[in-house]
Amino acid sequence: MKRLLIIAILFLCTSFKEEPVPGIVNPRCEMLVNPLGIDAVFPRLSWEIVSAQRNVEQTAYQVIVSSSPEKLEAGKGDLWNSGKVTSDQSVHVNYAGVSLKSRMSCFWKVKTWTNHGESAWSEPAKWTMGLINYVDWKGRWIGLDKLAQQDRGTQFSRLSARYLRKEFNAAKAINKATIYIIGLGLYELYINGSRVGDQVLAPGPTDYNKGVKYNTFDVTDLLKQGKNAIGTILGNGRYFAMRQDYKPYKIKTFGYPKMLMNLDIEYADGSKETISTDDTWRLNVNGPIRANNEYDGEEYDATKEFAGWAAAGFNDALWPKATFVQEPGGTYEAQMNSNMKVMETIKPVSVKRLKSNTYILDMGQNMAGWLRLRATGKRGDKITLRFAETLQPDGGLYVRNLRDALVTDIYTMKGTVKESWEPSFVYHGFRYAEITGYPGTPTVNDFDGRVVYDDMITAGDFTTSNATINHVYKNAYWGIRSNYKGMPVDCPQRNERQPWLGDRTTGAYGESFIFDNGRLYAKWLDDIRQSQKEDGSIPDVAPSFWRYYGDNVTWPGTYIAVADMLYTQYGDETAVAEHYPYMKKWMDYMAEKYSANGIITKDKYGDWCVPPESKELIHARDPARITDGELIATATYIRWLSVMERFAKLLDKTSDAKSFAFLSDNMKAAFNRKFYNTSNAQYSNNTVTANLLPLMFGIVPAGSEDKVLKNIGDKILIGNNGHISTGVIGTQWLMRGLSSHGRADIAYKIASNTDYPSWGYMAENGATTIWELWNGNTADPEMNSQNHVMLLGDLVVWYYENLAGIKTSAEAPGFKKIIMKPEMADGLNSAKAMYRSMYGIIKSSWRKSEGQFSWDITVPPNTKALIYIPAGINAQVTESGKPAATAQGVRFVENIPGRQVFEAGSGNYSFTSPLTH
Ligand code: BGC
Repeated sequence: MKRLLIIAILFLCTSFKEEPVPGIVNPRCEMLVNPLGIDAVFPRLSWEIVSAQRNVEQTAYQVIVSSSPEKLEAGKGDLWNSGKVTSDQSVHVNYAGVSLKSRMSCFWKVKTWTNHGESAWSEPAKWTMGLINYVDWKGRWIGLDKLAQQDRGTQFSRLSARYLRKEFNAAKAINKATIYIIGLGLYELYINGSRVGDQVLAPGPTDYNKGVKYNTFDVTDLLKQGKNAIGTILGNGRYFAMRQDYKPYKIKTFGYPKMLMNLDIEYADGSKETISTDDTWRLNVNGPIRANNEYDGEEYDATKEFAGWAAAGFNDALWPKATFVQEPGGTYEAQMNSNMKVMETIKPVSVKRLKSNTYILDMGQNMAGWLRLRATGKRGDKITLRFAETLQPDGGLYVRNLRDALVTDIYTMKGTVKESWEPSFVYHGFRYAEITGYPGTPTVNDFDGRVVYDDMITAGDFTTSNATINHVYKNAYWGIRSNYKGMPVDCPQRNERQPWLGDRTTGAYGESFIFDNGRLYAKWLDDIRQSQKEDGSIPDVAPSFWRYYGDNVTWPGTYIAVADMLYTQYGDETAVAEHYPYMKKWMDYMAEKYSANGIITKDKYGDWCVPPESKELIHARDPARITDGELIATATYIRWLSVMERFAKLLDKTSDAKSFAFLSDNMKAAFNRKFYNTSNAQYSNNTVTANLLPLMFGIVPAGSEDKVLKNIGDKILIGNNGHISTGVIGTQWLMRGLSSHGRADIAYKIASNTDYPSWGYMAENGATTIWELWNGNTADPEMNSQNHVMLLGDLVVWYYENLAGIKTSAEAPGFKKIIMKPEMADGLNSAKAMYRSMYGIIKSSWRKSEGQFSWDITVPPNTKALIYIPAGINAQVTESGKPAATAQGVRFVENIPGRQVFEAGSGNYSFTSPLTH
C-alpha cells in the first residue's frame, strides 16, 4: 500500500551520462520538510545529484511536470515546463506551473547541467494533491457520542473501541481509488479485510478543535468490481482524554471518537463516485478492544472478535447504525509529517520467573512501543502485561515513577493454537514487563518488542575512539526515537507524555543530525502556532493538551529556535516566513508585559534540573547552584532578538531587523549593569550558566570574554572537579561554548566522565536512554523518568559539529556550504560520522596515529566544504598523497592559528598532516 504524497516536496536523484552507472541511487520521491500548508498549492521540488567526480556543481536545471505519465514521457509539461533555468538551486525549488486543483496527480522529472556536462532525465516521480477546500469533503462526521454500557468516563476511564463498517457495490471496472480519512482520536482502516497502510497510532495528534489531520491512501489495488467493504476501528488517542478528568481545568478532552471519510472512485469509463461517511454505516462497541487509552493500556478480548467484519458479505444486521455527531471544528489539514510505524522489532534478552505465575521479561533496552505476544491456551485465559523502566530490589516492577499510569495490557484468549496479539491504541515506555496468567511457561520466543515512532530515516551515524561517548550516543539515539510520537514528547512512560517546548530548544537541532526530523518539527511549529492565544501568549506545551500558559521566555521561545533549526539544517526558509508574524507577536507581547528597564522580569523554570546537592532531591535548593531567573530570561530574550534579526534580514524586513538590534543593544547594556561584576568578570552568583549565556549570546563587554571564560573553566575544573553543573538551559550551550572558545579539553572531559554527575554516569548505572535527572538512579520518583532527552543539551550538536566536524555554514544553510572543523581534544584519537544532508551524504572520518593526522572526507555534489586541517603554517598537508593545494577540486584558502584552511567541491578526499604533539 503506497501512501500518496499530497502537495509533496519531492526529492530526486539525477545521474550523469558520462559516469559509470554503479554509483547511482534509484530515483526517490519523498517529502522532506513541511510544505506551504493546506491552502498553498505550490509544492517545492528537490533533487540530489549523484556523482563520484570531484567538484560537481549544478549550473542549470529543467523541471517538467505533466498531468499523466504518458505526457511526461513525451516531454509535454502541460502543468509546468520550467525550461532551462540558470541556477545552482537544487533544493526547495518552488513549483511555478499552472494552478493545481484538489485530487490532481502530478508526474515530474528533472535534468541538470553541471560543470561536468548535462545529466540524463531523472526517473519519473509523482505527487498527488489533497482535498484543498472544505467543500471537497462529502459526507458527515459519524460516531457514537456517548459511553457504551461497559464504558466509564471518569478518572481511569474505560472506553471500548468503536468498529465501523460499510459495504458498497462498485458497478464498473475501477481505474483509480483514493481514500481520505480523518479518524479521531486514532484509527485503523481496512478494505475488503486487508489493513490499509502500515501506519500505527494515526493520525498525528493536534489541538483537534483548531485543526485535524487527514491521511490519504491509494487503495486502487484493494478494491474490486462488485461488492466491497470498508472497516474502521476508532480508538481514543488524545481525543477522548477523560482518564485525566480529575484535572479538567488543566487537561483537555475533545469528545468521543469519530470520523469523516471520503473514498473517491474513478471508473474505467471515466465516471466518478464518492463513498463517504453517512448514516448507512454500522457501528459496534462490543468488539474485542474493550478498553484503550494511552496511559492505562489496552484490553483485548479475542472471544469477542467479529470474524470477517471488514470483508464483504459479513452479516451486520444486528449492528446499530452509526449516528451523526458534531464535527471537531477547525481546519482539515493534509498530514505532511509521517505517521508512526513499527520501526524495528527486537527480541527480549530474558524472561525469568519471579513467583508462581508471574514472570519478568527484560528487553535489555528501554524503548517505546509495545509487546507482541504469542500463546496457546484455553478460551477465556487472560494474559496480563504490565510495563516499567526499572526493577525493584526484589526483582518486581518499579512503577512509582509512572505516577498514576496503569500501563496494563490484557489479552483474553479465544482458545486456538498459537494466538498472536499486539495492541492497537496504546504505547508504553519500558524495558521490563511483568507477565501474569500466561498459559504455560513464557520464553523470549513468545514475545517481540515493537519499537514505535515516526517513520523517518536515520540520517546520521557517529562513533569515536571513546567508549563512553559511543555509549552515550547510543543512549541518545534510543531516547530520541522513544520520544517522537507525532510530536516530540517529554517521556513515553508516565502519566505525562506531553510535548513540552523547553525540552527541545536545542534538542531539535541535535536530533536533526541523527534523524531526518524536518517534517516532524515543521508540523510542530504549526502546532505551536495553533496554540498561540490572541494576545500573543505561547504555552509551554503544544499542542496544549495540558494548558500551561505561564508566560516565560525559555520554553515558548522554542518556537523561534525550531524555526531556526529548520532553516539552518534544511535550508527551509518557508518555516521562517510562515511563522515570522506569530513569533514577532510573541516577542512583542513578552517585552510589553514583562520587561522593566531592559530586564525581563518573568521566568518560570530557571535552569531546570541542575545536579542537586543531595542525591534524593529533584531540584537543587542550594542558592549557589541556582541561576537567577531574571538573568536566564533576559539573556534568552536577547538570544531570540538576534535570531529574529536574522529572520527579519532574510525576509527583507529591514526596519524590523533594526528594531530587534536596537532593543538588543539596550538590553545587553541593562543586563551588564544588573548582573556583571566588572571587578572579577563574574555574572551574578558565578554559576556556569550565569557566565555561559552572556558569553554565548554576545553580551559580555568586548575584551572581557577570556576572563568570563576563565570563570567558567575554574568553576567546572576547580569548583565541580571537572563535572557538569548546568541544567536544561546551561547545557544547551555548554559543549559548543567550551569548544568554540578554545576549551575543547574541558568539553571532552565532561563528555567522557563516568562519575556523578555526567551522561557517562547514567550509562555506567544501567541507563540505556537518557534520564530526566542527573541523579535519576536515586531521586524522588515523583519526577524521575528514565527516558527524557532534555538533559542532552547541545551534546549531539557538539558530537557532529565539533568532534566529527560536520556543520553547515550559517550563510549558506542546509549544508550548501559545509564547515569541517573538528576540535582536537587530547585523548580522543578518532571520530567518524556520516550525515545525510538534503544534497547527499557528508562523511568525516579522522584519526591520529603514528604522528600523523589522517582525515577522509566526502562532500556531496553541488556543495562546497571549508576544511580546517590541524596544521601549522609550514606543515606539509597532503591529499591522496599529493600536496593538498595542488589536488584536484581543492583550493588553499588561508592559514589561521593551528589550521590550514582549504576549500573543496564535491568528492572523496583523504588528507594528512603531521601531528604537532
Ligand atoms: C516534564 C519536562 C518539562 C517540565 C517543565 C516536566 O514534568 O517532564 O520535560 O519540561 O516538566 O515543567
